[in-house]
Amino acid sequence: MHVEVVGRFLSGLPPDDDHPYRTGAWRPNHVEYDAVDLDVVGEIPHDLEGIYLRNTENPVYDAIGRYHPFDGDGMVHMIRFHDGRAEYRNRFVRTVGLAEEQAAGEALWAGLMEPPARSLRPDGWGARGRMKDASSTDIVVHAGRALTSFYQCGDLYVLDPRTLETRGRETWGGRFPAALGVSAHPKVDAHTGELLFFNYGTDAPYMHYGVVSSANELVHYVEIPLPGARLPHDMAFTEHYAILNDCPLFWDPDGIAKGVYAARFHPELPTRFAVIPRRGQSSEVRWFEAEPTYVLHWINAYEDGDEVVLDGFFQRCPAPAPRRGGTPYERMFHYLALDAMDARAHRWRFNLATGATKEEDLSDRVMEFGMINAQHGGRPYRYAYNMTGKPGWFLFDGIVKHDLVSGRETRYAFGDGIYGSETPMAPRPNARAEDDGYLLSFVTDMNADRSECFVFDASDIEHGPIARIRLPERISSGTHSCWAPAHTLQP
Ligand SMILES: [Fe+2]
Repeated sequence: MHVEVVGRFLSGLPPDDDHPYRTGAWRPNHVEYDAVDLDVVGEIPHDLEGIYLRNTENPVYDAIGRYHPFDGDGMVHMIRFHDGRAEYRNRFVRTVGLAEEQAAGEALWAGLMEPPARSLRPDGWGARGRMKDASSTDIVVHAGRALTSFYQCGDLYVLDPRTLETRGRETWGGRFPAALGVSAHPKVDAHTGELLFFNYGTDAPYMHYGVVSSANELVHYVEIPLPGARLPHDMAFTEHYAILNDCPLFWDPDGIAKGVYAARFHPELPTRFAVIPRRGQSSEVRWFEAEPTYVLHWINAYEDGDEVVLDGFFQRCPAPAPRRGGTPYERMFHYLALDAMDARAHRWRFNLATGATKEEDLSDRVMEFGMINAQHGGRPYRYAYNMTGKPGWFLFDGIVKHDLVSGRETRYAFGDGIYGSETPMAPRPNARAEDDGYLLSFVTDMNADRSECFVFDASDIEHGPIARIRLPERISSGTHSCWAPAHTLQP
């Protein structure tokens, strides 16, 4: 392995840090590397051509008050595959907020665990305001460039997908909705090259939906009026429709008026779904009602006759009771564990002819963070690749390949002390089947104090990785990821 250190950030974290999401498998990285000739166990497939990107909440400074695992600064880890070889880079996303904090030498904005009034700066980003847009939640590739995003709405940062250099903020030719920003989980339709997005906020109409063309022009932006401020995290699409959601877990309106942002679940209210033609107007939204829940992530959606079919992870326990025992931080962040939210793969069917909703569980297993072959995004599909969680923790201990036609589930377990990442699927060129391709996952191995990128044969995950690529340093566990085939990248 040939490693070059290209950047080094001075850590402002306490030397004796005891925060469970800044230590152990969540210990942040502050060195930026370029690495080539990586050591490989097994063989990298020669037909794997493209890049695997993963975003990470990777804090530089100690928090104002309590640190929440979603507050960390964005760091992108990337492996580029070409001709049976791999190269690795990692870079901080050069956000405006991080630059201001570097100039000040300390955190300037309070995070999710503290009221906005504790921020040192009067300005900021996020649906609740006065937060730092850390751009550390999600990453997609659209129009040949990588875009990072923030779960509470903010800018989209444009990164060169090969060098990870931050090129600045997306403008869409001056039409970017800068006041409200854009939520994490914009969706890219691999067939049209369009990017579909939404945002949300605390003022009416509370949500918007938009479309950006494959030529990177904002071509559609409409209001999705909601009854009040909501906390949608993800959206879905089919060939002809976009699907937005109004889950009954939201900030207490009385609290918002006092500057306190406390999310509460309302089991007396339905979950509502907005189905809108992809270029439709607000007046064309069809609303459907379903059992109350909160859904962090959708898996996919497609059309089936009169029905729009939507798959996602139904939380049986959207507001987990505080955990007994453990440290105060462990009790505090118990709700981030997949077993605490009790998330199960679930299917909703919205009948456009009758207005009826049908829904059912697809699995008894607790899973989340599902990925699919992107060629099947918005279209009928058979396989989802989901993550299982270490009980009590926001850490991934295994991958489940879920066959949605037969119901069969196969699993790869990383083993004690070894944690994977959200695992995207890279179809082979000229793939003969939906699962003809590879799965990619960055792995943090606490036993061996190292990180690797695992490559699986998507048709046989139980076999274990066919290639394990060593990284220069043990990297922090992280958040969303994507695969971008080489031919989709800007030259
Ligand atoms: Fe997410």
